[in-house]
Amino acid sequence: MNLSEKYTRTAILLHWLIALLILVNLVLVWTVDSLPESFTRAMIDTHKSVGITVLGLALMRILWRITHRPPQLPAFYPRWEKFAAHAAHGVLYLLILALPISGWMHDSAWKDAPTHPMSLYYLIPWPRLGFITGLDPETKEAMHTLFGEIHELFGTILYIAVGLHILGALKHQFIDKEKELQRILP
Ligand code: HEM
Repeated sequence: MNLSEKYTRTAILLHWLIALLILVNLVLVWTVDSLPESFTRAMIDTHKSVGITVLGLALMRILWRITHRPPQLPAFYPRWEKFAAHAAHGVLYLLILALPISGWMHDSAWKDAPTHPMSLYYLIPWPRLGFITGLDPETKEAMHTLFGEIHELFGTILYIAVGLHILGALKHQFIDKEKELQRILP
């Protein structure tokens, strides 16, 4: 395969690392209620750490994307299909930022935040968002609920966007017989 048809090694690494970490975070929230309560704190703390890691990687990925042109889609794809692929990518870029940021805002408004300091993997202290922690308790409670709902809504949009992204890739690979997956595989 021609090198200009492939993503760069950095883009490939960031793509799969972010996908894997998002999957870890989803598995944590899917399973947290079915495990004994003694696991809850550690699982949610890990969810927060992994989410902040995704935020850092997402910023790197977006910077990389701005400075490195991705390979073009094959010219014979219909216009609507190219548009759909680009739209799904745009939504995914937004979500890898919006999910961690809304989670961080939700957590910063948590009434027990002052007695439960946040840290990354129990190693590195991590701040809450000062413009939220400084609010009065009533507003903070309302923000906690609102950002919890927004975080959940972004989660639902993520399922749909990832579903379409995977279906599109599989169609190109197996119906159009294009080397689509090879573009993003190491
Ligand atoms: C990769 C990024 C992230 C993804 C994909 C993600 C996804 C999710 C999903 C799907 C839920 C379940 C929502 C529901 O159905 O109620 C959730 C819950 C939650 N998330 Fe995130 N999240 C991410 C990052 C973060 C970050 C950075 C924080 C905080 C710093 C955070 C804090 C929370 C909290 C506190 C909950 C509620 C957990 C519970 O009490 O059950 N999330 N997240």
